[in-house]
Amino acid sequence: MKVAVLTKPGCFAMEERPVPRPGRGEALIRVTRVGICGTDLHIFDGHYAADSLPMVPGHEFTGRIEDLGPEVTGLTIGSKAVVDMNIGCGNCYWCRRNEVLNCPEMRQIGITTDGAFAEYVVVPARLVIPAPDHIPDEVLALTEPLACVVRAARKAQVTFGQSVVVIGAGPIGNLHVQLMRTIGAAPIIVSDLSEDRVQAAIEAGADAGTSDPDALRDIVMKATGGRGADIVIESVGHPALYRQATELIRKGGHIAAFGLTGPEAELPLPILQTILQENSVKGSVAGMGPDMHDALTLLVHGRVKTGAFTGTSFPLAKIQTAFDTIRDRPSDLKTQIVIGE
Ligand SMILES: NC(=O)c1ccc[n+]([C@@H]2O[C@H](COP(=O)([O-])OP(=O)(O)OC[C@H]3O[C@@H](n4cnc5c(N)ncnc54)[C@H](O)[C@@H]3O)[C@@H](O)[C@H]2O)c1
Ligand SMILES: [Zn+2]
Ligand SMILES: [Zn+2]
Repeated sequence: MKVAVLTKPGCFAMEERPVPRPGRGEALIRVTRVGICGTDLHIFDGHYAADSLPMVPGHEFTGRIEDLGPEVTGLTIGSKAVVDMNIGCGNCYWCRRNEVLNCPEMRQIGITTDGAFAEYVVVPARLVIPAPDHIPDEVLALTEPLACVVRAARKAQVTFGQSVVVIGAGPIGNLHVQLMRTIGAAPIIVSDLSEDRVQAAIEAGADAGTSDPDALRDIVMKATGGRGADIVIESVGHPALYRQATELIRKGGHIAAFGLTGPEAELPLPILQTILQENSVKGSVAGMGPDMHDALTLLVHGRVKTGAFTGTSFPLAKIQTAFDTIRDRPSDLKTQIVIGE
């Protein structure tokens, strides 16, 4: 099989490898579509998971179940599937509480262990989620990024009628907007430095938006009767935006910490205001278990507009070009790799 190995930052090499065989409790997936996400770009740039190289990245994937190892039940060869990329040890304190993302031994397919920029990948069968045949592969490959957004909404305990500000209208911010719309949050206000991305988010379901950070507070206050928003989602990864978020939430409001920063970045929070107003900040990372199931359900039932995400794709053999040129295509919300067509 052909695999794309990231041998060192910035450099993919196509390799021929034997098709792996699924062992006990494992499934062999024939990969069909894989999204490229910000994390992949961080890995490509050498800023994240550098210890994993050389490695086959790719974690936003879908495919068909090609083969099953011994002792696998409940899965059918030939079925379409998506895969929860988070492999916990299964035995530690966190795994036993189903908090796999905090497992000290956690491995992530395509981040710390070989992933899906390959014709086939072997994964633990318990992490395979069958998907309906009629849903296009380019839509199924959005399950993982949507699952991250589902998890953040779950942690924020957002419900209908709540006002939400999404700071950052990149591909993930756009999905935050869409999920909030589906939940019934209102109003939804979006902020991005790029007017194109603000407009894309408004098309996706935001009620208002601005590319002028200085105008944001006024817009939010006007839209919320002067109170501020129930929830602000930071979907950029910039410490200064937490300061902005504290100026946008209502008393008792919630800040969803979502955009990834460097390891040294700290939260610039007004402590007394946080205490007196009983504000909260909560992080969420990735999507796992029920987040993946719920994201798939939303996609299957058409609750997310996917058209803006599925237009740009490259064959696996052109993966180097896909990564090298991705920043030249800021109007594309997603680039996907097509395998085996
Ligand atoms: N916590 C998680 O589970 C999780 C999962 C996936 C991605 N992420 C992170 O979420 C963030 C968003 O992901 P993405 O793929 O959309 O990233 P992206 O980099 O494509 O988009 C970020 C957007 O923020 C905008 N931006 C930059 N500075 C801004 C500012 N001062 N005010 C408003 N907007 C500003 C940019 O113009 C861009 O459109 C990234 O940091 C990513 O690493 C987190
Ligand atoms: Zn991703
Ligand atoms: Zn564990």
